[in-house]
Amino acid sequence: MSSEPIIELRHIHYSIALPDGERRAILDDVSLAIEPGTINCIMGTSGSGKTTLLRLMAGLIRPESGEVLIFGRDITALREPELNKIRREMGFVFQYSALFDSLSVGQNIGFALDRQRRPRAEIDSIVANLLGELGLSGLENKRPSELSGGMKKRVAMARALASNPKIVLYDEPDSGLDPVMTRVIDELILQMRDEKKTTNVVVSHNVHSIWRIADRVMMLHEGQMVADGAPREVEKLDVPVLRQFLEGRSDGPILVR
Ligand SMILES: Nc1ncnc2c1ncn2[C@@H]1O[C@H](COP(=O)(O)OP(=O)(O)OP(=O)(O)O)[C@@H](O)[C@H]1O
Ligand SMILES: [Mg+2]
Repeated sequence: MSSEPIIELRHIHYSIALPDGERRAILDDVSLAIEPGTINCIMGTSGSGKTTLLRLMAGLIRPESGEVLIFGRDITALREPELNKIRREMGFVFQYSALFDSLSVGQNIGFALDRQRRPRAEIDSIVANLLGELGLSGLENKRPSELSGGMKKRVAMARALASNPKIVLYDEPDSGLDPVMTRVIDELILQMRDEKKTTNVVVSHNVHSIWRIADRVMMLHEGQMVADGAPREVEKLDVPVLRQFLEGRSDGPILVR
């Protein structure tokens, strides 16, 4: 009874050119299909290819081969105007917040709405509501440089959610946040799924947080998908790199570089 996937990656290969003319594989034959209205967590060690995977889903980079289907449409060959129409349905929380330093918090959050020429009063109300939900009430007129790292992260989250996207891609939404704020973010992601029916892809290192929110867990390791399933199934898998990651051991097959 599964529905059509809203995001699908088919046999994705992505590599980068090295100075000596060789290429290095970053993603090596990665396939996945994401069901609407679910929370999908992607974990993996640093450098395993998680951010690259999200960038492919957002059409910010193109794969060398393979298909990226969003709402059933392969975006790998689309031109910018078409791609932008699809991106309008997506929110992206970047790993390093990526706020506009010259704009206020309120202008950052309302940026996309402003470009859609939505009425000022409506934008102000959406911004104020999101700030309230994220524990940032009254910070509309601050500049990003006046905020702590964790506050910037939450502003980035508010910006991604402001235009009511169908798909939200989160790159480490809880990095730099304390445990209480991590919990607040987890609950917000759950609330977005349950109330707004968003489809969520969450890149995270935080095993506790993943197990609280995920409908499905995937693990990338050196550019390959080494685990994929419901949390209860994945926690039982006998994959050595997965075991080492879940148990947080320094000894094991994962190379520490
Ligand atoms: N534009 C690029 N130029 C050169 N190398 C790149 C580029 N993009 C990614 N890489 C390399 O690809 C690999 C995967 O990078 P990626 O950012 O996807 O990892 P990640 O899993 O998100 O890591 P982290 O947890 O540290 O954020 C890394 O080895 C990185 O150095
Ligand atoms: Mg990353």
